[in-house]
Amino acid sequence: MRTEHAPTIHRADYRPLAWTVDTVELYFSLDAEASIVRNTMQCTRQGDGPLVLLHEGLMREDLTVNGAPPKAMRDEDGRIEIDLDGEDAVEVVVVTRVNPSANTELSGLYQSAGGLFTQCEAEGFRRITCFPDRPDVMTRFTVTLEADRRDYPVLLSNGNLVEQGELEAGRHYAKWEDPFPKPSYLFALVAADLVVLDRKVTTVSGREVLLQVYVEAGNLDRADHAMDSLVNALRWDEETFGLELDLDRYMIVAVGDFNMGAMENKGLNIFNAKYVLAKPETATDVDYEHIESVVAHEYFHNWTGNRVTCRDWFQLTLKEGLTVFRDQQFSADMLARAGGETARAVKRIEDVRVLRTAQFPEDAGPMAHPIRPDAYQAIDNFYTATVYEKGAEVIRMLHTILGPEGFRNGMDLYFSYHDGQAVTCDDFVEAMSEANGVDLDQFMRWYSQRGTPTVHADVAFDGEAETCTLTLTQSRPDKDDEPLQIPVAVGFINAVGDDIPLRLQGEAEAGATTRVLQLTERQQQFVFEGLRPGSVPSLLRGFSAPVVMAINESDAQLAFRMAHDADPFNRWDAAQRYMTRTLLAMAASDAPEVPRAFIAAFDTVLNNIALDPAFRTVALTLPSEAYLLEQMDVADPAALRRAMIIMTQTLGRALADDWLGHDEALAVPGEYRYHPGDAGSRALRNLGLRYLCAANDHQGVGLAELRAANAKNMSERFGALMALVQSPAVEAAQLALTAFEQTFGGDALVMDKWFAVQAAAWRWSPEQPATLERIEALTQHPAFSLGNPNKIYSLFGSFFRNNPAEFHRPDGAGYRFWADRIRELNARNPQVGARMARMLENWRRYTPELQQLAREQIEGLLKEEALSPDVREVLEKALG
Ligand code: ARG
Ligand code: ZN
Repeated sequence: MRTEHAPTIHRADYRPLAWTVDTVELYFSLDAEASIVRNTMQCTRQGDGPLVLLHEGLMREDLTVNGAPPKAMRDEDGRIEIDLDGEDAVEVVVVTRVNPSANTELSGLYQSAGGLFTQCEAEGFRRITCFPDRPDVMTRFTVTLEADRRDYPVLLSNGNLVEQGELEAGRHYAKWEDPFPKPSYLFALVAADLVVLDRKVTTVSGREVLLQVYVEAGNLDRADHAMDSLVNALRWDEETFGLELDLDRYMIVAVGDFNMGAMENKGLNIFNAKYVLAKPETATDVDYEHIESVVAHEYFHNWTGNRVTCRDWFQLTLKEGLTVFRDQQFSADMLARAGGETARAVKRIEDVRVLRTAQFPEDAGPMAHPIRPDAYQAIDNFYTATVYEKGAEVIRMLHTILGPEGFRNGMDLYFSYHDGQAVTCDDFVEAMSEANGVDLDQFMRWYSQRGTPTVHADVAFDGEAETCTLTLTQSRPDKDDEPLQIPVAVGFINAVGDDIPLRLQGEAEAGATTRVLQLTERQQQFVFEGLRPGSVPSLLRGFSAPVVMAINESDAQLAFRMAHDADPFNRWDAAQRYMTRTLLAMAASDAPEVPRAFIAAFDTVLNNIALDPAFRTVALTLPSEAYLLEQMDVADPAALRRAMIIMTQTLGRALADDWLGHDEALAVPGEYRYHPGDAGSRALRNLGLRYLCAANDHQGVGLAELRAANAKNMSERFGALMALVQSPAVEAAQLALTAFEQTFGGDALVMDKWFAVQAAAWRWSPEQPATLERIEALTQHPAFSLGNPNKIYSLFGSFFRNNPAEFHRPDGAGYRFWADRIRELNARNPQVGARMARMLENWRRYTPELQQLAREQIEGLLKEEALSPDVREVLEKALG
């Protein structure tokens, strides 16, 4: 394990390397305990200086330059420097030995369920062999894998299979050649006992390509959805961006132990099994949706990430922000194809909900960073919601500003300039600018400013002149920051709820009902003509920029927009605002009660059957507690929880007949199919069960019990289980949990849900056991394992993130539990440990009593000797 205190790396310090690697030949003699890696590199000089090779935790058996030991070589802190004065080209051979079975970090070459797998992004390749392991070194790879045939019948690496055969002593080999130069972080190998689903498709230019999904034996019936998603993604990229698959063979491999979601290794994507495997009995609608988007995400990386890659890791959003934007657009198109435009809007709402819940707090906390950070200690800590999700919002704004065609032209120019290169975010934005003849210098500030901007809106009507002056003022968390370019989509609604065609001062006639205003100064005024007083503004439609929109609106105005806003996003947002202010007021009250007007507004949406069930579901789902705590001056999880409980119980009780009526009306007949319409009906019924069970409604609990026991698909079964666990019906919940465990105890992915739902359980009454004690007991469950990241995220992550009232217990037991888990994970898997460590980074937002308790635990952890750089960076910043 790495224990040294990590130095800070700065973006400004980037220097090209003196040497590059043109070709690499890797020979792996694979074994679970002792794999031997022979690495032969043809290196060429491209500047002054030594040849640099990076390594981490390796046993090196040999290193030669042109067949002899190097004459002048330094080896310090994982960095080898070899002086090669007078040489312009050399052959370097390195032989290393690695132990995959001892690799608990799951970075580099590791073992999972008896197979061998790799994860190299960001810096895992140096844990396999010595190499200039940076994304700006692009190399042609040839890889030979040799292994025992019985244990490892399948041998895969990037590119094309060029040779395979038998060897002595039951061993066999396969040789793979990747025709495309690539950075080392895109290298991958798999040696395992797997079965495969094959499909052949013809690309737009008429080439036949082989698509494959590899899974463990017994899981072949769960691979179809991933395969369908892959084919859809391939077609979409051809149609939308004119981008074709460039390989003859494209493989996806599912693995049970994986730190992240998935990895876009060239031609050999390796996936967390969670984002591959689905069948109706074991996967929910949400799982199906996630699989579709992650499969597409990794596929889209083949162009945005692999063909054009990042010069250095500070540029990570170049590939991640852009690729998240692409997968969001893809999913939205797929949903709209099957479920119409509302389905597209619901997808947008879900994406923004993630941004507000995960990224806004990050951007307001001690880890805040621009989408292109300036410095880091551990790069693995910067695979963040900011780099990914806010990064995608920044790309989306470009798309809004330039229009779909302008954006496409920019993409075309970007590829024509930079195909095969490792580039920067500036290169991307410059291509967009040049293709459109638009100056984007000011826009570039989005890449260097951190924090969520606020846009204050002031609306002033002049009744006589029938004009309305909209004053927009932007403010930045870092006071000295220069103003940003912020596209603000604006509409106005008249008294009967219709959108008004808008005419800006100086325009001859009224045009579209939604206008995108460009806010480029600190403060700007926009004058609309022909607008009567009382017209209701609808601002930041579609969430046209990742900002907080601050506007004074009465409850009545919010209720009006909840019922009438023509922009579905803003309609949802009005509901969120109304819920937020109501819940915060209740949390601050000694005798919290849900106002009658609020129930009426909620009722109106629930019973508006002209609205899709999927939309009603998101509109009637309360904001997450994480988001709400962020809105409190002093975050008080216990007070908020009390308000949440009263709110859900009240809505369940007051609207019980409506929920039950919709439950019956929306039953989905026939076989399960993954379809946004069906999924929307199931989701609204599940939401209804949540409210009904919260209110301990007799009929609601009965329905949930039945469904948890008998539902044919996991969406309904798990929705019902969740409703029971999240309710005062303690006994019914326990029975359902036990039955669920008996049915699915052997299914790791399903058990992840079982752990997660219990970790997120509220305490509805003092009779209910405390959640923490329950979690402690569950760590002893045979299906739980500290070595499996999915289990960590399900049991611990879900508790720390989704259960603030139980985690931030006034007795500090939650924090002590947290610190003990960080200690364990720090030694075993620092990447996952650091992610868990981040769950308390915003501790300064909480009450003074909680702050004191949190501080003690953080300070205690920082006294540990063997702290990994990943965990240390998070804790030091949290305290800093
Ligand atoms: N590039 C991968 C993806 O977004 C994620 C890799 C994450 N690696 C890491 N060390 N955090 O698809
Ligand atoms: Zn990605």
